[in-house]
Amino acid sequence: MTSYRGNPDAVRALVRPDRVHRDLYLYISEEIFALEQEHFFANTWNYVGHESQLPKPGDYITNEIAGRPLIVVRHADGSVRVLMNRCAHKGSRLVSAPCGNTGKFFRCPYHAWTFKTDGSLLSIPLKNGYEGTQLHDCEASKGLVPVAGVRSYRGFVFVKINDVGPSFEDYFGDSLSSIDNMADRSPEGELEIAGGCLRFTHQCNWKMFVENLNDTMHPMVAHESSAGTAKTMWAGKPADEPKPMAIEQFVPFMSDYKFFEDMGVRTYDNGHSFTGVNFSIHSKYKAIPAYDDAMKARYGEERTAQILGMARHNTVYYPNLTIKGAIQAIRVVKPVSAGMSIVESWTFRLKGAPPELLQRTTMYSRLINSPFSVVGHDDLQAYRGMQAGLHASGNEWVSLHRNFEDGEAERSGEATTVGTSELPMRNQYRSWARYMTETM
Ligand code: FES
Ligand SMILES: [Fe+2]
Repeated sequence: MTSYRGNPDAVRALVRPDRVHRDLYLYISEEIFALEQEHFFANTWNYVGHESQLPKPGDYITNEIAGRPLIVVRHADGSVRVLMNRCAHKGSRLVSAPCGNTGKFFRCPYHAWTFKTDGSLLSIPLKNGYEGTQLHDCEASKGLVPVAGVRSYRGFVFVKINDVGPSFEDYFGDSLSSIDNMADRSPEGELEIAGGCLRFTHQCNWKMFVENLNDTMHPMVAHESSAGTAKTMWAGKPADEPKPMAIEQFVPFMSDYKFFEDMGVRTYDNGHSFTGVNFSIHSKYKAIPAYDDAMKARYGEERTAQILGMARHNTVYYPNLTIKGAIQAIRVVKPVSAGMSIVESWTFRLKGAPPELLQRTTMYSRLINSPFSVVGHDDLQAYRGMQAGLHASGNEWVSLHRNFEDGEAERSGEATTVGTSELPMRNQYRSWARYMTETM
């Protein structure tokens, strides 16, 4: 059995220009998974939450990136800070709730050391016990450790644990236009998270979920039982019959190969990509006149047409955030083990938009992305099938040959091509191999 720890060449060999090795997904010893947590996630920019979850000073959310427990908190000066959720004394986790308000300081539940919301040490009980000791010169007196890289972009907060690799802007480049489009769809130019999240356990490696986001060869096959049923139910209805919202959202999943091919896909350096360069399954939603009016009042006719005409499908902000700007929903993947991931589905309100927009988003989240959706379970069944099937012997490789071009691996990751290409997946894995091995 190959050992990968301390062996970057063996890790790189898992990714060939047009295929990847099964060990990428399921390594029985969990070795690759542990290395991913230690290196890959720590070297890439990951989404940790949205500023609208932290309206007041002291508001916090907890999260975990690269196996590191984190607190994302609104400090007294209004800035968002990201701190290691680890007491400076003996290492206890400081906060265990998923979200809340801590007031002016965090208080450790073990021995009551307190820390300001910028992480600095505020007080220690019975402080005189430290007189004459070296405490003031050691790590403990510095308080909570801040995360090396923190960047908020239109309310989306990202972190990079290790101080290596590209800046936020260089890492995401022009792919940020998908976040811009989602925020610009608000007549006030701002988004806010509406309600809690729908959390969904997936019995699969996190990469299967992320690569599926731009896999347009599966909807008409894997979703035939759900979206296909909706399509059959609607077939033969008079053209002037008003389409229920659920039908409007289900049926485009059953579009033919040509539709998905013509939709187009765009890839960026560092593993990012989106489908829907020309149009998408979201393009034909019916207009909501009060919304159009609010948009035109804010942006004018021409700019409104530009914003609403951009109906991208899934944008992957590699590795952990995927967004659907046209429907204001995001999904965040959280790796748990080699064979298990949690997918969180969050819904956004467009500030200043009429309530129909949020209804459309919540309907979509329920039907497609939630634990009680019908479409999402089709995908889950496919991932489980891969996770099981890859245990077979005799073929250790996963084919990603569709529309592969010679020399592609040597070029920049920026390209636009047919929507049915497997280029986005190859682009993800090239990036994976690079960031995995950067600090090994
Ligand atoms: S571990 Fe936090 S105060 Fe002791
Ligand atoms: Fe799907």
